[in-house]
Amino acid sequence: MIFACVNTKGGVGKTTTAVHLAVMLAKQGRTLLIDGDPQASAASWAAWRVETNLDPSPVTVCLHEKAIFSEGKELAEGFDHTVVDAGGRDTTGLRSSLLLAERAIIPVGASQLDAAALTDVMSIVDLAKDYNPRLDVRVLLTRVDPRTKDMAEMLDFLKGQGLKILSAIVCERVAFRRVIGEGGTVHEMKKDPSAIQEMDAFFQEVTQ
Ligand SMILES: Nc1ncnc2c1ncn2[C@@H]1O[C@H](COP(=O)(O)OP(=O)(O)O)[C@@H](O)[C@H]1O
Ligand SMILES: [Mg+2]
Repeated sequence: MIFACVNTKGGVGKTTTAVHLAVMLAKQGRTLLIDGDPQASAASWAAWRVETNLDPSPVTVCLHEKAIFSEGKELAEGFDHTVVDAGGRDTTGLRSSLLLAERAIIPVGASQLDAAALTDVMSIVDLAKDYNPRLDVRVLLTRVDPRTKDMAEMLDFLKGQGLKILSAIVCERVAFRRVIGEGGTVHEMKKDPSAIQEMDAFFQEVTQ
């Protein structure tokens, strides 16, 4: 399966989601992680991962713009699983990611700004579906504080848009911030059982 983590908004957790998904998939089969963001955060994570000697590691490559689809398609054939970490804003790269993907994951936070940005990303997703009708799109609520009413309001908004929302959610947790700089995942750092539980629930649901 080819997954892509997409959103036109930055800072929503695309890279965090992509690297966790890639490591969880790498435990099951050969996994390719395509860093489609010119900022190359996933590639930095992968380089730190080599230094920390963590295992298993997805094979990580950086591809930009149209190459995400053209080269990504060919490369993905050599792997059991592929995850694309798409850059925010870069619409060619984003469109290319959506052409390649079978399942798009849209991480969103719970705020007015996230809701506004979703309208942009959904119009790009709708366009991509004309060329890639099999594309399955799922929204993941990330960096949320479940105690606030923001999350309930965002859920209402998402349901109103007729979007498929994953019931797994990822809360704002220090562990997620720390592990990226160590090239790891919350599973490997073993500091926060709730973070591990959230990622496991996300993985179960998104790979179904
Ligand atoms: N669930 C989370 N809890 C706390 N911090 C998070 C979480 N997800 C992401 N972050 C932090 O937020 C920032 C943006 O996350 P990132 O995954 O890089 O988003 P994007 O790729 O969408 O720009 C990073 O500093 C990251 O460590
Ligand atoms: Mg990123």
